[in-house]
Amino acid sequence: MQTSFERKPLEQVEAGALIVPVFEGLKEERFGAGDLLAAGEITGKPLEFLLLHHVAGVAATRVLLAGAGKPEKFDPSEMRKLAGAAVRHLKAKSVKTIAMALDPQHAGADFASAAAEGAILGDYEPDRYKTDDDKKSVDRFTVIAEGAGLEDAVTRGRIVAEAQNFTRALVNEPANLLTPSKVVEAARSMAAEYQLECEVLETAQMVALGMGALLGVAQGSAEPPALIVVRYKPRKPKSAAHLGLVGKGVTFDTGGISIKPADGMEKMKYDMAGGAAMLGAMRAIAQLKPTVAVTAFIPCVENMPGSRAQRPGDIVTAMSGKTIEVINTDAEGRLILADAMAYARKQGCTHLVDVATLTGAVVVALGHLNVGLFSNDDAMRDRVLRAAKSAGERMWPLPLDEDYKDYLKSAFADLANVGGRWGGAITAAIFLKEFAEETPWVHLDIAGTAWLDESKPYLAKGPTGLPVRTLVDLAMDWAD
Ligand code: BES
Ligand code: ZN
Ligand code: ZN
Repeated sequence: MQTSFERKPLEQVEAGALIVPVFEGLKEERFGAGDLLAAGEITGKPLEFLLLHHVAGVAATRVLLAGAGKPEKFDPSEMRKLAGAAVRHLKAKSVKTIAMALDPQHAGADFASAAAEGAILGDYEPDRYKTDDDKKSVDRFTVIAEGAGLEDAVTRGRIVAEAQNFTRALVNEPANLLTPSKVVEAARSMAAEYQLECEVLETAQMVALGMGALLGVAQGSAEPPALIVVRYKPRKPKSAAHLGLVGKGVTFDTGGISIKPADGMEKMKYDMAGGAAMLGAMRAIAQLKPTVAVTAFIPCVENMPGSRAQRPGDIVTAMSGKTIEVINTDAEGRLILADAMAYARKQGCTHLVDVATLTGAVVVALGHLNVGLFSNDDAMRDRVLRAAKSAGERMWPLPLDEDYKDYLKSAFADLANVGGRWGGAITAAIFLKEFAEETPWVHLDIAGTAWLDESKPYLAKGPTGLPVRTLVDLAMDWAD
């Protein structure tokens, strides 16, 4: 889908459909909306649509009156949803070229970016493996406003949303086709396309580095593991900081010997959503060029119960030197992240964010609406929360008090990889904290938010691409 910005009177906009937001409680007289409001055919409630054909004096073939809700509540998040839902509504009717009018009260750069994002995110369908030929998609989306200079905002929105769709497409790949080696291929080709450095550690190098925690998870699969490193270096750095993005890349999680129940196991192809989010974020970062150095680290493994698989009770030594008793082989994410985080620190990262589909417990705690956020550093936590707010991705801080560490006691090793029945999202985070050590770090548990079980008016069912936008904003707004 092509996106652009135009400054033009609405009547002159040529398109298959022109989207015009209608607000609740406001009189909108244009395009005959006054009569329709009076008749109660449209009220302006969020995501309510009314499609008009052949409106007199309008160049566009159709006008879509689009309920935008109360004007004082209409923020960029609402704009993103409205653009996405309108595009999906029109796409279903095979409309190919769409324009969207920004109303003068909501026409800043952040609204223009959000409109482009919403349109591109709404257009995405996880239909790569459907062979029917009536797949619908939109060719062109134009943002229309009275003010000048919104081209850059639209371009920025496009870059971020395309990166998010790149992540969604990767997450949706089935695990037979997306093995760790295939993630490596995807990372290499993305890095080559956007002039990023890409380096991949293979088994032998991981053995030499002593990454026993990661290798222990990988040993049950015939597919070799990989630790993908993608580097962005700014031309003129304005900060001494080096941001490390560590993403869980389990291409399939059977649970290993502590095997998962069959019901719903097919969804465990999305256990690499954290890693895919890092690749998406790097793709946008390469184009938007923040002034801080950013490196992504993606440990990729398949968690399988093969004949060489690790067993409950096994003790592994992580790269940091700590020993771990593997009580449950299904708590594999924290094991691979432990070594990837230690490696990121060794590579000079001064700040860390890890993103992982880490626990079912975070879904119990927060449902599917908020990412679980944990941190060992208040300033770092606030940075990420600020970025999340500006990106319109909801996150909620959860506690990390020292005494939760007691839950991870092992009789035979430095720590156990699970902490019992209670506070599962917290004990997973406490485990990771041991490997962040003194480095300011944020952990984002996206188990509940990386996958949408039912489509929304503005988003297809399947991978959501969270939290790509937050990571990009974090890097773009970095200041010491
Ligand atoms: N990949 C899962 C977590 C998960 C659960 C992601 C549901 C998405 C949806 C993770 O590796 C896992 O299995 N965690 C266990 C930990 C437990 C054994 C302590 C869990 O949450 O049940
Ligand atoms: Zn697991
Ligand atoms: Zn997992």
